[in-house]
Amino acid sequence: MNIFAIETSCDETSAAIVLNGTKIKSIIVSSQIKIHAKFSGIVPELASRSHIENINLVIHKALKAAGVNFLNFRQHVDAVAYTVGPGLLGALLVGATAARSIACVYKKPVIPVNHLEGHIYSAFIENEFIKPPFLSVVISGGHTAIIIVKDFGKYKVLGNTRDDAAGEAFDKAAKMLGLRYPGGPVIDKKANKGDSNAIRFPRPYMKGTWDFSFSGLKTSLLNYLRKNPINSKKHLNDICASFRQAVVETLCFKSFEAAKKFNLQQIVLGGGVSANSLVRKMFLQNGQKNNIKVFIPSSIYCTDNAAMIACTAYLKQKKCGLEYKQSDLKSSACLKLINWN
Ligand code: KG4
Ligand code: ZN
Repeated sequence: MNIFAIETSCDETSAAIVLNGTKIKSIIVSSQIKIHAKFSGIVPELASRSHIENINLVIHKALKAAGVNFLNFRQHVDAVAYTVGPGLLGALLVGATAARSIACVYKKPVIPVNHLEGHIYSAFIENEFIKPPFLSVVISGGHTAIIIVKDFGKYKVLGNTRDDAAGEAFDKAAKMLGLRYPGGPVIDKKANKGDSNAIRFPRPYMKGTWDFSFSGLKTSLLNYLRKNPINSKKHLNDICASFRQAVVETLCFKSFEAAKKFNLQQIVLGGGVSANSLVRKMFLQNGQKNNIKVFIPSSIYCTDNAAMIACTAYLKQKKCGLEYKQSDLKSSACLKLINWN
């Protein structure tokens, strides 16, 4: 089954065509980073406008790369998927309108996809053999969640962030350090040149709960900078390395504790922060040590993209079919993770 998918939940306009959830026929991701960088964060109004300006071009590029056009669309595409939430409402509506219009014109079924589920299943694009149950660790700019995936579409959310998401913590730390947005990749790069033992930042393990909280860590960085203004490139690299170490150790420690506690043999990562080089290294090393299989998507599938939406739509229609209620199709900024029937 060929699924044409659109993702516009935040600051990436993306379209893809994916066969049976795993064979990428095309994937186009147009980032708005340049627009938002000067504000050190995403401006929702500008995000919506930029999606409107880019969506047609992104769709055309994705179709062209897969050898599809609007004359042969009916033969080559079986269903249209789009991100229904959570995300910025104005941004979501642009993708929903485009996807539903195309589906209506070409008389194709539409599959609404929860963005969080897109991250949960993004590793399936390259590892179709993964079978639930597994522990999903979604670490992005909007989420830090550990979830038991008992079966496809059957979840038990163990923990969420109580304040900043992991990616948000990196983005805010970068702002304090005078680095550009998004902070995660910049801090990662500088951290690779620094000493992670230079400064001992706290590890917010939050014992007794699977929830996360990174705001205290952020405050401790602020306090450190007040007393110790950045005095050299080496100093900046050391701060980045020490901060990254604290975030990643916390994510890794809690994820493996949860996997062991609930006797899960597989951890599946997703979300922009899983592109972090230390996340990848530490999770894989800990996986080997604890005999737990760790799956991490390639970087392009970690950050927001439409291929993960197509992949999730494929898995979803296998279980739920191709007919969805109007209420399921409604874009929602704070959509929750809901079990499939
Ligand atoms: O999944 P994503 O593209 O969007 C959301 O759903 O939020 O994640 C974006 C987040 C940003 O906060 C960005 O700083 C972070 O992922 N990120 C990283 C890295 N690459 C992206 N964080 C740490 N290290 C990276 N290499
Ligand atoms: Zn995302």
